[in-house]
Amino acid sequence: MQPTLAPYPATRLRRLRRTPAIRALVQETTISPADFIWPVFVRDGEGVVEPIASMPGVNRLSVDKVVEAATEAHALGIPAICLFPYTDPALKTEDCAEAWNPDNLSNRATRAIKQAVPDIAIMTDVALDPYNINGHDGFVEAGEIVNDRTVEALVKQALSQADAGADIIGPSDMMDGRIGALRSALEGAGHQNVLLLSYAAKYASAFYGPFRDAVGASGALQGDKKTYQQDPGNSDEAMRLIARDLAEGADMIMVKPGMPYLDICRRAHEMFGAPTFAYQVSGEYAMIAGAGERGWIDGDKAMMESLTSFKRAGCDGVLTYFAPAAARLLNG
Ligand code: PBG
Repeated sequence: MQPTLAPYPATRLRRLRRTPAIRALVQETTISPADFIWPVFVRDGEGVVEPIASMPGVNRLSVDKVVEAATEAHALGIPAICLFPYTDPALKTEDCAEAWNPDNLSNRATRAIKQAVPDIAIMTDVALDPYNINGHDGFVEAGEIVNDRTVEALVKQALSQADAGADIIGPSDMMDGRIGALRSALEGAGHQNVLLLSYAAKYASAFYGPFRDAVGASGALQGDKKTYQQDPGNSDEAMRLIARDLAEGADMIMVKPGMPYLDICRRAHEMFGAPTFAYQVSGEYAMIAGAGERGWIDGDKAMMESLTSFKRAGCDGVLTYFAPAAARLLNG
């Protein structure tokens, strides 16, 4: 775009900023609760609301409480909720079999939400880390995170989630070939309407720390995830990953983390035009919520500004732990 500007004083750009009414009229980017996917942490038990120290305001919820949360989210106009299980450490094994147990926590929560709030979309996470004794997203053999055997397990996990009623499957594992394998397995099992939101451009990031506390993976994780998650210095590689996942049958793509990677969001949106999401991850949440709690910044304003930035960067929506708080503010 080539801006056409008359010389000052014919052009006074501040005229457009003088009053709230005029500012509202020319605002380019707006956000609404319909832009949010709300990630929630599920644990076992009943009536349990367990705070997560590194994520002020976020709790692990038992299935009955997750159903309440979904009901509230739906009433607030939030279209989708995303489930992350905090798995009992006793159920973590080397073969990760709990991941495709039809009655695991995630699947039980999916069925309960479907029954109580059929209109909210349910997204589930495909990766082995909540079930893996060593905290990795894939199987570990002789110190290597192996690809193809992991993909076979991810397919079983995703099918159990689709059988339970998941609307959107979110593979967050970064294995090669998983989108194609998941798509053909879903088609083969009669789940042709189940959506794949690929964590296509997922970086090996320090901003996931509080999440790993929340799902109980921090203690378990051996080493780092750099052989499967991306180097934060890479942008072209993100485009290749997104192109590959779309070619294999992803319906939507995600950039993760969010705020440090807005350039990737912009590029992805312009290059592919596919529904593009950012994940404002746990560490981003913790920075804003933690500083807000201490009075170092205005937490509500920083929350809204950060959420607006994703839309401005070209995202269609954002996964954010702020979803209900932001929706409440937006709804007045
Ligand atoms: C792992 C997974 C992670 C997140 C979502 N799925 C962490 C990781 O890759 O170690 C992070 C989300 C967040 O930080 O909010 N499959």
